[in-house]
Amino acid sequence: MKKLITEKQIKKRVRELGSRITNDYRGSVPVFIGILKGVLCFLPDLLRATNLSVELDFVVISFYHGNKKPGMLILEREIGMDIEGRHVILVDDILDTGKTLDFLVDHIKKKGAKDISICVLLEKEKEREVNIKPDYIGFSIPDKFVIGYGLDYQERFRNLPFIGVME
Ligand code: IMP
Ligand code: MG
Repeated sequence: MKKLITEKQIKKRVRELGSRITNDYRGSVPVFIGILKGVLCFLPDLLRATNLSVELDFVVISFYHGNKKPGMLILEREIGMDIEGRHVILVDDILDTGKTLDFLVDHIKKKGAKDISICVLLEKEKEREVNIKPDYIGFSIPDKFVIGYGLDYQERFRNLPFIGVME
């Protein structure tokens, strides 16, 4: 495993994202919606870097592995609050194919959110089938499999304080 982004770099960048969100949402109370489990380190740090009144909720997404509809996404945990008319900030660990965020943006729109912005810690530099453009991006990284700071390989390595590349 090779270190790609250090703990210090993450801390600095998360503080910058928090300041930007604070400026952009000044005077309103946005709802942060985190996608578990990958967002488990990033979201709490981001919230602490944001100087606003905020509300918080989580969704859990999984992939359907059967043979009827391969690749279909399943919402395992639904948003638990009423987000109609609210400013939503959807937060994920990493933008890869974009399918997860595309699915959730659609879902959140149907629930009547006033507007939605997307915040990801990492974005893989690659061509995407879906058109997802995050409003807040921590780092753009090469199209490699990464772990740490919430990101797992077979449920392990989420507790690394830095981002590493699997070799
Ligand atoms: P999507 O392909 O953009 O829908 O990404 C789906 C999810 O796959 C992300 O939210 C991550 O949890 C996971 N994922 C994608 N790339 C990586 C990676 O390099 N390491 C760990 N998890 C990843
Ligand atoms: Mg995830």
